[in-house]
Amino acid sequence: MAMIALKCPNIQVVVVDISKPRIAAWNSDELPIYEPGLDEVVKACREKNLFFSTDVEKHVAEADIVFVSVNTPTKTRGLGAGKAADLTYWESAARMIADVSKSDKIVVEKSTVPVKTAEAIEKILTHNNKGINFQILSNPEFLAEGTAIEDLAKPDRVLIGGRETPGGQKAVEALKAVYAHWVPEDRILTTNLWSAELSKLAANAFLAQRISSINAMSALCESTGADVSEVAYAVGKDSRIGPKFLNASVGFGGSCFQKDILNLVYICECNGLTEVAHYWKQVVQINDYQKTRFVKRVVSSMFNTVSGKKIAILGFAFKKDTGDTRETPAIDVCHGLLGDKALLSIYDPQVTEDQIKRDLAMNKFDWDHPLHLQPQSPTAFKQVSVVWDAYEATKDAHGICIITEWDEFKKLDYQRIYDNMQKPAFIFDGRNVLNVEALRKIGFVVYSIGKPLDPWVKDLQVSI
Ligand code: UDX
Repeated sequence: MAMIALKCPNIQVVVVDISKPRIAAWNSDELPIYEPGLDEVVKACREKNLFFSTDVEKHVAEADIVFVSVNTPTKTRGLGAGKAADLTYWESAARMIADVSKSDKIVVEKSTVPVKTAEAIEKILTHNNKGINFQILSNPEFLAEGTAIEDLAKPDRVLIGGRETPGGQKAVEALKAVYAHWVPEDRILTTNLWSAELSKLAANAFLAQRISSINAMSALCESTGADVSEVAYAVGKDSRIGPKFLNASVGFGGSCFQKDILNLVYICECNGLTEVAHYWKQVVQINDYQKTRFVKRVVSSMFNTVSGKKIAILGFAFKKDTGDTRETPAIDVCHGLLGDKALLSIYDPQVTEDQIKRDLAMNKFDWDHPLHLQPQSPTAFKQVSVVWDAYEATKDAHGICIITEWDEFKKLDYQRIYDNMQKPAFIFDGRNVLNVEALRKIGFVVYSIGKPLDPWVKDLQVSI
């Protein structure tokens, strides 16, 4: 919305939320999320044509176009638990729009939703419409965190789906005109509603599938002596495959991939497509396998036990340049190590202690609910400490796990770190960002995903 405000000075944008602290943060000097370049964009338009308000009903009533970006968590109970999207928040948003509207409106699905959600929303709106005309559009967002501003300023494509009726097409044109302020026309794709809804799930499934494919290969590389980076490079040189999204890692995280695939699986099952559901589910299963495999490497290398040993966790965010921890692989890795009674010392340049402890105390899928529905007083983890410096985290540690690829981890003084650690000193690089040879020269026992194994790690191998 901030980008629309920046690129369309003639359009007034009001971002509304029922959470007072969140809106207050958007109106303050400390924005509530960390995203490179976002501060500048918000500050350039705030109070000019970009406003943040809790007066939801007033601004929705006045708007011509309403973008709905409420959360769509994975259901934790009832029909479709663990897979289907919970549309509670979407439904109440639609009912509120219907209640307060006094003029015709275009309602845009911005949240990622199951295919055919628009149909349900349309029913809610039209059954309560008091003679008002509502047009539903699907306009999924493809930005990635950490590069959001760049992705929004120069998108590969903007996708707008609408009804194939004159009213639907008019609404599509109206939204297209907004994006046409800065996006070249040939990059604005228009489709029917269901194609737009499904394309978002499909795009995320394809991206996640690439990561699971290379991660599956990484296990085979470790067994055969191949190097996953060399394999990825050679494979990616095929122009039909391309080089992006082939970095082997401890596993993908983030608010989208797992949730969207589970949702896709559920839709397939609901349509009787068992084999298709099974196929996509494997992408998530390989991701879980990769996280478990990493933990097993750590434990088996350290004489099959980490009980009472200090392990430094460097990085907690799901990727670099963000403070976002939703579905971060760090949570599963920490749980795995805590299960083996390790003592964890965690450092991330952007994630607070409160957030880390809340994440470690939370049940699966709870993160996508409002704060007051998440655990309020996280269990005091006696085994976990959160520190604000990588040197502090690694002091007296037996091992180090790199979980997020923050640039600063490449520049640390590893000799100094080694000197202050217990020996043998281990490093487990879950992101393949460190110089393995240099570390081995210092004296570290090193494990990197999908790379030829250190003789030490090889000798202590367990079945994984
Ligand atoms: C993703 C999609 O990229 C974006 O188009 C969609 O709108 C939202 O979901 P995001 O979750 O912000 O974006 O991050 P992304 O860069 O896709 O990374 C997702 C996860 O995959 C991260 O944990 C990342 O570290 C991991 N990853 C990515 C890999 O492990 N290897 C790779 O090669 C690329």
